[in-house]
Amino acid sequence: MIYVKDNLFALHTENVSYVFRVTDTLHLEHLHFGGKITLDGDSIPALMEKREFLNGNLNAYDREHGTLSLENYLLEMSAYGKGDIREPFVDIIYADGSSTSDFLYDGYKVLHEKSEYDTLPGSYSDYGRSEQLILYLKERYSDIVMELHYYVYERCDVICRSTKLRNESMQAVTLKRLMSAQVDFDDSDYIFTHFNGAWIREMNRVDNTVTAGRFVNASYTGTSSSRANPFVMLSRRETSQNFGECYGFNLIYSGNHYEAVDVGSFSKLRFVNGINPQGFSYTVGPGERFEAPESVMSYSDKGFNGLSGNMHEFVREHIVRGTWKYKERPVLLNSWEAAYFDINEEKLLRLAKAGAEVGVELFVVDDGWFGERNDDTSSLGDWKASEKKLPGGIRGIADKVKALGLKFGIWVEPEMVNVNSRLYEMHPEWVVDIPGRTHSEGRNQRILDMVNKDVQNYVIETMSRLISSADISYVKWDMNRTFTDYYSKCLPPERQGEMAHRYVVGLYHCMKTLTGRFPDILFEGCASGGNRFDLGILCYFPQIWASDNTDAMCRARIQEGYSYGYPMLALGAHVSACPNRQTLRNTPLWTRFNVAAFALCGYECNLCEMSEEELEEVKEQIDIYKEWRSVLQFGDFYRYDENGAGYVSWTCVGRDKRYAAGLLLQGLAQPNMPDKRFVARGLRPDAKYHFYNIKFKIRSDSGNMQADTETEDYHVYGDVLMNSGVRLSQGFAATGYNERVRVFPDFASRIYFMEEE
Ligand code: GLA
Repeated sequence: MIYVKDNLFALHTENVSYVFRVTDTLHLEHLHFGGKITLDGDSIPALMEKREFLNGNLNAYDREHGTLSLENYLLEMSAYGKGDIREPFVDIIYADGSSTSDFLYDGYKVLHEKSEYDTLPGSYSDYGRSEQLILYLKERYSDIVMELHYYVYERCDVICRSTKLRNESMQAVTLKRLMSAQVDFDDSDYIFTHFNGAWIREMNRVDNTVTAGRFVNASYTGTSSSRANPFVMLSRRETSQNFGECYGFNLIYSGNHYEAVDVGSFSKLRFVNGINPQGFSYTVGPGERFEAPESVMSYSDKGFNGLSGNMHEFVREHIVRGTWKYKERPVLLNSWEAAYFDINEEKLLRLAKAGAEVGVELFVVDDGWFGERNDDTSSLGDWKASEKKLPGGIRGIADKVKALGLKFGIWVEPEMVNVNSRLYEMHPEWVVDIPGRTHSEGRNQRILDMVNKDVQNYVIETMSRLISSADISYVKWDMNRTFTDYYSKCLPPERQGEMAHRYVVGLYHCMKTLTGRFPDILFEGCASGGNRFDLGILCYFPQIWASDNTDAMCRARIQEGYSYGYPMLALGAHVSACPNRQTLRNTPLWTRFNVAAFALCGYECNLCEMSEEELEEVKEQIDIYKEWRSVLQFGDFYRYDENGAGYVSWTCVGRDKRYAAGLLLQGLAQPNMPDKRFVARGLRPDAKYHFYNIKFKIRSDSGNMQADTETEDYHVYGDVLMNSGVRLSQGFAATGYNERVRVFPDFASRIYFMEEE
């Protein structure tokens, strides 16, 4: 709900309020972002900042407002030059060379219909609400208009912001930065959490105690980056998974992003997020406009799980769209870890057949099927099947896969080209490089300049031709190198600072056109795993390959990292072979499944090399997953962090709370272990549930020890499961064993199901 009274603006969701006002000087003073508050005409005096005297050594805004310093004020947006020296929201260089901006309030509008976006994807609403507040600000000495847009998503306690800038003057200005959101907090007693990483090591939660000065989480790879995901949090020291205050921020953007916290001299904390200003500059000519990506903000006083719940609901309802939004995702078998580049029709069909026999629904031919692609040194750009490997072309193999009762999917990397390719021979001018300089190398490939309209059209038409050439149901859209030598030959020298952003805009144009043309195709985003895992991609592609790391132990941590800001419905997760290709670790097949089952479960291993016993297990796993995937894919996901060191524990609860699944996963086994409980989350306290475990055979590596899993079977109320938990069977303690003992060697895990009775 949007409430406007005189100079007061309040945005209310079910549990959260976001409030600001217009000051006498026509600035926007931020008053509150947090738990819901009731406001009327008397509220402002209590909420506003009091100033009788100017603090020493500060600059007053102007002569008439001698006690007001913008350096010590909570603001909705800020600029350099009028006293505020903290992280700015906007930075513009004007035609006269000056760079002081003073944006002042100039009216507002409330819209009940969501307006169309120009160039960037944004959140949307299917049902009723799409209230939008637009604040118009005008720069005091120039005709530059800034629009601050606010969107309210009541049910998930999310408020989004975006910024647009219009140049109504006669002269061009240079934009050095335009942030998407700014939130000023009264104090700095916060933990700033970001998720850092690398290839096959994505989404490590890092908690930074905020002190004075600045802390920046940002991406420089041209993508949203596995090094620093755009999702970040601010929380109190005492905040835990289920208790305490926390704020979450994300950006609907797939390029270089920037999230900064800045604590100024008066211990106020400023948060901003938006496009990374590093290397960015954008000329906005007379009559032109610039749109910054949408920022997503949420608050919860129910701990990290509460915040994640808001974000999950928001992404499911207001980001993911199209045919697959509410549709169960298929169990796929991907050829990559099964065969890498060494593929041919016969081998692929053998694999597909083995997949069909265990219940796989979709067979995906990954890299290696086109041109002369036998390793990563050639052929990107030549999207025609290798006649040697696939004599019947894509159509031939697709038909044969279909005849096995499977859907067919394919891997592509449309934004890239190898120098060793026909495409590069024809269009060397299409790649991102700086004329006359040597280019840095990344996976032997170059990035196509998506700023170039011809390149965009090439991508759209080539992909359209490929997708229509056979009965294709799924496309994995990969992007395997990061940017160096930023340069677009389509832009004049003074506009090169626009390149990285214009690339993202070009990419979105292609994604929008293709997903519009092929609405039923299931697209899965990918960038060397999670190098472009963000809300911008999820606006077009309903799922993303979360990491090239398929080791169950690493995956549990990576998936848990994503779960802070993203629903499990967005994450591809595959069972692969052991020893694992990324860590050389052996983990039980059931553990590999148990972890993958909490996201979009697929298989990526050579089923043809598996033993009868293993294939039986895989078949059982797929049956279980199919039966439970409506819960596991669309359910509410909770982390449990008090389960003792070395354990991972999750609960996923179906939307109607009638069914739930829990995971208990152990790292290295400790001898003579303490007893264990399983504690659930998110159930109906007054509903009675049947709690039981999946039963399977536990095999040691050498095969000389076999045991059946213990039986857990209880009938208890939801409040028992949540407030007390189930005391599980005694763990193996080296003093005896029978069928009631929980054999829990290294990397053991269990799934517990809960069904309302
Ligand atoms: C990237 C992807 C992998 C696989 C390979 C193929 O690394 O993340 O899943 O598709 O490319 O080259």
